[in-house]
Amino acid sequence: MIIEPRMRGFICLTAHPEGAAQSIKNQIEYVKSKGAIDGAKKVLVIGASTGFGLASRVTSAFGSNAATIGVFFEKPPVEGKTASPGWYNSAAFEEEAHKAGLYAKSINGDAFSKEIKQQTLDLIKADLGQVDLVIYSLASPVRQHPETGVLHRSVLKPIGGVFTNKTVDFHTGKVSDISIQPAVEGDIENTVAVMGGEDWAMWIDALKAENLLAPGATTVAYSYIGPSLTEAVYRKGTIGRAKDHLEATAFEITDSLKDIDGKAYVSVNKALVTQASSAIPVIPLYISLLYKIMKEEGVHEGTIEQIQRLYSERLYAGSEVPVDDKGRIRIDDWEMRDDIQEKVAALWTQATTENLAEIGDLEGYRKDFYNLFGFDIQGLDYNKDSNEMVKIDSLD
Ligand code: NAI
Ligand code: NA
Repeated sequence: MIIEPRMRGFICLTAHPEGAAQSIKNQIEYVKSKGAIDGAKKVLVIGASTGFGLASRVTSAFGSNAATIGVFFEKPPVEGKTASPGWYNSAAFEEEAHKAGLYAKSINGDAFSKEIKQQTLDLIKADLGQVDLVIYSLASPVRQHPETGVLHRSVLKPIGGVFTNKTVDFHTGKVSDISIQPAVEGDIENTVAVMGGEDWAMWIDALKAENLLAPGATTVAYSYIGPSLTEAVYRKGTIGRAKDHLEATAFEITDSLKDIDGKAYVSVNKALVTQASSAIPVIPLYISLLYKIMKEEGVHEGTIEQIQRLYSERLYAGSEVPVDDKGRIRIDDWEMRDDIQEKVAALWTQATTENLAEIGDLEGYRKDFYNLFGFDIQGLDYNKDSNEMVKIDSLD
């Protein structure tokens, strides 16, 4: 059948298997084109099927010939209904890894649960012995707490007052004002429970308890800071509290890994179109202006370029990992350049429905959004029939 994007609100209900596969091939080609990275050889990626986690898995495998285990939560296809995009990404990733002679297995299920953690530990024990890099790249709206059973929901709200600013509906291009009500009782705690560092620490504790972390093992989780424009809803909002918690957890994990000389880092990454970020009000307008400026300046990157640079110029550059005054790796350095932020801020005040297509990169935003679902991928002929019933090698 011919698969087309089917939208409901900000969600795309379909995904294109061959498009996802082509996107994986493009990412692999990019990583190979940048040359070998002297990095970790046995890698666990939690949140491995889309976005930064997927780019991390691809970079480990095809930059450093690493064996990878990927954990994710994706929907398999059923007859007549496509899988979720991360399913197709992971199927294609495994196929390419296996063709290249690389170990790659996947675990599909709730990474917050004890069961999926145990399944992962058992697989590492059986197949790899130990891992030397753990990437933590979950983005989820909910977490069922493994001890209490409570279902926590994260929210994207300002703290202390209503936040009003511009936003864009990137499908229609309509720019409008949006007001977001402040967090209420429980919102901060719940958001920290979902997107803070507790689960990351639980993973590392569990791995360490079973001696599955190699001496000198590294773990990295991803964070975001962004500009003052989005501060009220992002970094100083409920999600920012979760990121504060995540960043603080890195120090606790590093302390807990002293005896094996292990280290936990948070890497602050660039704002990019992913399923998670397209749902945050105000961010899509910021991203469309940011893309325009960064492309003009020749410093635009997608997830694969970000992570390839994180590995080659930060984590595995052969010298001490450079960090900021809060101990964080900064790969958002180009986004946050003063000249770039000044230009974005100037465009922000001008942006309207009428001029956004011209002064912003709405086209680029939309293309990236469709790309997440395997549509509009460079190098694929979409007139051919698709087969949605794709299997993931290791999950058969
Ligand atoms: P994403 O939505 O593309 O990826 C999320 C991953 O988590 C997927 O592999 C998904 O299957 C997995 N996942 C979600 N819930 C799960 C569960 N219960 N069990 C197992 N797997 C689950 O997200 P993205 O954007 O790559 O985000 C990853 C991290 O990067 C997040 O911490 C995010 O805050 C951070 N980040 C994102 C930025 C952006 O602009 N998108 C910028 C900087 C940091
Ligand atoms: Na991810």
